Amino acid sequence: MDESERSAHPLEWDDEGHPVSALFGDLFHSRHDGQAETRHVFLAGNSLPARWSARPYFSIAELGFGTGLNFLETWRSWRATRPFAGQMSFTSFEAFPLSLDQMRRALSRWNELAPLAERLLDALPSTWPPVGEERPVRLDRQTQLTVIVGDARETVPAWPGKADSWYLDGFAPARNPQMWNEELMKAVARRTAPGGTFATYTASGFVRRSLEAAGFAVEKRKGFAGKREMLVGVKRD
Ligand SMILES: C[S@@+](CC[C@H](N)C(=O)[O-])C[C@H]1O[C@@H](n2cnc3c(N)ncnc32)[C@H](O)[C@@H]1O
Repeated sequence: MDESERSAHPLEWDDEGHPVSALFGDLFHSRHDGQAETRHVFLAGNSLPARWSARPYFSIAELGFGTGLNFLETWRSWRATRPFAGQMSFTSFEAFPLSLDQMRRALSRWNELAPLAERLLDALPSTWPPVGEERPVRLDRQTQLTVIVGDARETVPAWPGKADSWYLDGFAPARNPQMWNEELMKAVARRTAPGGTFATYTASGFVRRSLEAAGFAVEKRKGFAGKREMLVGVKRD
């Protein structure tokens, strides 16, 4: 076993080739169509691309980098719609990163994203940075990605940045409640720029209450595919 496999996220692969976390017993994306889920939940849920189209700088932060699919679909959409000379910074907080081989296998089903997936995998270091360290990777002249390794309950409060949009993408709250607790949601709210937003696929009452208590005006939207509801919100003044 080499170093990157030792530090990989323990995974099982289902019959259709979707990765399932053996740590949390949960999928990284909808079996229905993960790429369309990213567009519906995280991009549309944060009113993107419309909100970045008039801005010289836009910052997105994510809880849970996982396979990198949310980032890749965001990068694809950003490249197609970004303003001239606009800059996008994407910061993702991840406690149990996948190895590059695991990411390559998980991302291989998305033909449309294949060229960008190759660029991403080439640009990422073969071993992840030490816990809490920020090592931004420039993917093109207008796009920067930073994956901060470590438990989000520690790394988000220590992050000096502010996001215009948050993607809240921990595993299901019932399987991973620590990724949704009120303290972490407060840290997310403190690291949200004025007028900033979040989106998440869950409509759990516990998550909604944590986000409201943290200072977001929360709204239910139609969920992706079979899901009845999801949550979006704007930081209150
Ligand atoms: C649903 S997956 C994220 C999917 C991802 N956004 C993608 O595009 O593939 C949830 C992720 O949260 C990570 N995670 C779970 N608990 C965490 C914690 N306490 N802090 C940071 N990351 C955590 C898991 O390792 C997993 O990669």
